[in-house]
Amino acid sequence: MITGFKSLTALALFAGAANAIWPQPVSYEHGSTVVWISDDISMKFSGPANNSQKATDKVNHAWSRTKTTLLSDNFVPWKFHKRGDNFEPADTNGPKLKNIIITQTTSETSAPAEYGTDESYNLTIPDAGDSAYITAPTSFGVLHALNTLTQLFYASNKHKNHGVYSPLAPVRVLDKPKFQHRGLNLDVARQWYPKEDILRTIDALAWNKMNRLHLHVTDSQSWPLEIPALPDLAPCGAYAEGLTYTPEDLAEMLDFAEKRGVQVIIEIDMPGHTSAIAEAYPELIAGWNIQPNWDRYAAQPPSGSLKLNNEAVRKFLTTLFGDLLPRLRDHTNYFHTGGDEVNKNVYLFDEGIKSNATDVLTPALQKFIEHVHGEVRKGKMSPVVWEEMLIDWKLTLPKDVIVQTWISDASTKTAVEKGHRVIAGNYNFWYLDCGNGQWLDFGPNVYKQFYPFNDYCSPKKNWRLIYSFDPVAGLTPEQAALVLGGEVHAWSEQIDGVSLDSVVWPRASAAGEVLWSGRTDAQGVNRTFADASPRLAEFRERLVLRGVGASPIMQLWCHQNEGDCALN
Ligand SMILES: *[C@@H]1O[C@H](CO)[C@@H](O)[C@H](O)[C@H]1NC(C)=O
Ligand SMILES: *[C@@H]1O[C@H](CO)[C@@H](O)[C@H](O)[C@H]1NC(C)=O
Ligand SMILES: *[C@@H]1O[C@H](CO)[C@@H](O)[C@H](O)[C@H]1NC(C)=O
Ligand SMILES: *[C@@H]1O[C@H](CO)[C@@H](O)[C@H](O)[C@H]1NC(C)=O
Repeated sequence: MITGFKSLTALALFAGAANAIWPQPVSYEHGSTVVWISDDISMKFSGPANNSQKATDKVNHAWSRTKTTLLSDNFVPWKFHKRGDNFEPADTNGPKLKNIIITQTTSETSAPAEYGTDESYNLTIPDAGDSAYITAPTSFGVLHALNTLTQLFYASNKHKNHGVYSPLAPVRVLDKPKFQHRGLNLDVARQWYPKEDILRTIDALAWNKMNRLHLHVTDSQSWPLEIPALPDLAPCGAYAEGLTYTPEDLAEMLDFAEKRGVQVIIEIDMPGHTSAIAEAYPELIAGWNIQPNWDRYAAQPPSGSLKLNNEAVRKFLTTLFGDLLPRLRDHTNYFHTGGDEVNKNVYLFDEGIKSNATDVLTPALQKFIEHVHGEVRKGKMSPVVWEEMLIDWKLTLPKDVIVQTWISDASTKTAVEKGHRVIAGNYNFWYLDCGNGQWLDFGPNVYKQFYPFNDYCSPKKNWRLIYSFDPVAGLTPEQAALVLGGEVHAWSEQIDGVSLDSVVWPRASAAGEVLWSGRTDAQGVNRTFADASPRLAEFRERLVLRGVGASPIMQLWCHQNEGDCALN
């Protein structure tokens, strides 16, 4: 406890308010003095002389967004006070915040952020002064601090023309993330997502202090990503003309994300999940759209897999990576080559294989991956793969390959035991698409055996279940050090832009807090729902205010009567 700061429990004045910072900082101390924000609040930034222009621009851009959020997108927290409570400041006297003094203490290059980037920050709002202070080693930390700053302020109903206030001064926040990879995997291939949906999702990720958007951008059902060197690929592979991401769209997403401290990692899943390629290049795909017994040849229709032992496929991949990777290279060091759910029987149709035997397929798959990863490394990036490549197929993968696990915690353990860095996200906890029921139609002969049509990962993973998942549970500290973090997953069989926000938010926020703050607190004790739910509820209000259609987590009565909706 820093002298002069009241503890959270001593704060009777603001009781009933959620008083929320989401995700929970490492250390947060505050008082109960009201500070107003001046309408002409300004920011002064100083960084090292040799700081990159990119980092400086990022901070300036972040400040202009922060100012808008603070002054225009703020809310009156009536939902968090008992009916009839007179919780607003009595008058508009008192200190006015006029400056945000930001110091970045180490210089950054313009290279994409590596794992290990210091995202810590120190935010101080004195109770009397007219300036708040942010110190951070990097622009990433500065952005997180500005984000936290926005969560300390509220709009006033009573004093409409006097801006916004924080009833919490003085404030001291010291903070840093537990995990380096805090992401969402968004499947933009099974449904078409307009660019705006993706940009809005990036904003929401950043407000959660999440820093990775994994775009699963192609699949068997559609190929929306334009590759100018393969001019027929997207026009034929997309669901319809115009439902594609142009190179300009991609560049805009990458830049938009980078300005918000979010790195976009593109996945081109292969060799399975590729049959959309057949729309333009049928000669590259084995077993395309076998009907009606597609389920022998693929996890989903249409069946089809890139041929494994095939010169034309190798040439196609070299062209693909030669076009795409240079466009990503300034923004990320990582490229996801997929590798999940490779079907064996489909290779009975591959003229270079003609077998479904593991001992025939494995060496061919090994060669295929070596070619693919060779191209990725030639593009000066590190490959990411789904766990099946390492664990089911037991391929030989160099240690630079990051393994993304989804099937079990045991897979995470196996992958780190083999020395790989891991992105975790067990589907029993972190799949946001579960519980909608089956998307398949069932014929009259089989429908009875599928009643009541639950999907394979039913039930829906509610935010509490998501919050209870610890990506490093059961690992030694040495093993845990290889877990970069995790991702929640939004597979899009039954999600599109219409429902995206309410499916993803605020449930992804629960994972966001686990990844930023840890499942357990500094004492190693599990974080509680009683602590999390009012903060998550308030954070959800801020998401809604900023244009994200996040779902509510409790009825209002529970917010207004904090603590009275617990079952003990
Ligand atoms: C910036 O300058 C400092 C001090 O001279 C030096 O230690 C650091 O390596 C430089 N950083 C970059 C990115 O050039
Ligand atoms: C945080 O910033 C404040 C104000 O600039 C400073 O007094 C304090 O020493 C800093 N704390 C740490 C741990 O860096
Ligand atoms: C492999 O293919 C053969 C020949 O079509 C088939 O009889 C067998 O069931 C297949 N094996 C598996 C594991 O599906
Ligand atoms: C902490 O939570 C985990 C699940 O996330 C659970 O397995 C464990 O029993 C909890 N520990 C305690 C002490 O409640």
